[in-house]
Amino acid sequence: MKNILIVGSTGQIGSELSIKLRSIYGENNVVCGYYKPPYPEGFFESGPTIEIDATDKQQIADAVKKHNIDTIYNLAAILSATAEKNPKLGWDVGLNSLMNCLDVAKELDCAVFTPSSIGAFGPSTPKDKTPQDTIQRPTTVYGITKVMGELLSDYYYTRWGVDTRSVRFPGIISNLTLPGGGTTDYAVEIYYKAVAGEKFTCPIKAGTFMDMMYMPDALNAAISIMEANPDKLIHRNSFNIAAMSFDPEMIYSAIKKHYPGFVMEYDVDPLKQHIADSWPNSLDDTCARQEWNWRPEYDLEKMTADMIRVLKDRFGSVKVTK
Ligand code: SER
Repeated sequence: MKNILIVGSTGQIGSELSIKLRSIYGENNVVCGYYKPPYPEGFFESGPTIEIDATDKQQIADAVKKHNIDTIYNLAAILSATAEKNPKLGWDVGLNSLMNCLDVAKELDCAVFTPSSIGAFGPSTPKDKTPQDTIQRPTTVYGITKVMGELLSDYYYTRWGVDTRSVRFPGIISNLTLPGGGTTDYAVEIYYKAVAGEKFTCPIKAGTFMDMMYMPDALNAAISIMEANPDKLIHRNSFNIAAMSFDPEMIYSAIKKHYPGFVMEYDVDPLKQHIADSWPNSLDDTCARQEWNWRPEYDLEKMTADMIRVLKDRFGSVKVTK
């Protein structure tokens, strides 16, 4: 039985991963570390919680000791576009927090999961079907922290035997907690606008392809890799995973099948476009498929139907503006 600590449990991924992990391992065996509001509804009633500033190693160590933790999910990060506006903060949260988790894991014998990202690649990386092992020269501070995080995590494994594992997440599309300041966020916001019956203004140019994934597949990846048989893992930090690759026109068309009157226009954000242009169009996830049986369930059509169903249930059906 695992005893899990989630660092950053109130964010886009953490808020859903905590629910899923508690449903699998039991609500008292998953401790949700939080830093600042907003907190998801019912957060403090749903199981053990603990305030943690991940840049303070002692706070992580105290939480691990207090709750007898054996697995840390380290989700603390500042997303790509926000980190470009405050690189020092991006570095502190993205990398110093990881180093703290790794040190605590080494001292107190924990496994560590940390997400890497498509942001760990850069303009000199092969763009299509990006291989597992390839050039990683990112041009964002977010990407730099991700590459450093991958290397550090592998270092702690090979040097100290810390059980570190991770995946390179694509843009994640979800309907519980909004992402904050990522380059791929447009692919979440577009659904909220469609269901609200409002026009969507897209910050990313038509023809810009990025890998994306629906949250249930992302959660499944984060859990399955930590459950994988270590003897089968040739790689560890970090695995390419992929589910779908699209550009703004493709997601717009998929949504228009449900809302024919939905309108999207463009007002390109130069910072986000610059970041998107430096990232791959699509990743090759063969190694994840072979080494731990990774299989996504959702493609663009299936995700679109589900996103709209969930958001409509929550916000109700509204008239579409022409
Ligand atoms: N979704 C992230 C971002 O856009 C990439 O991993 O910053």
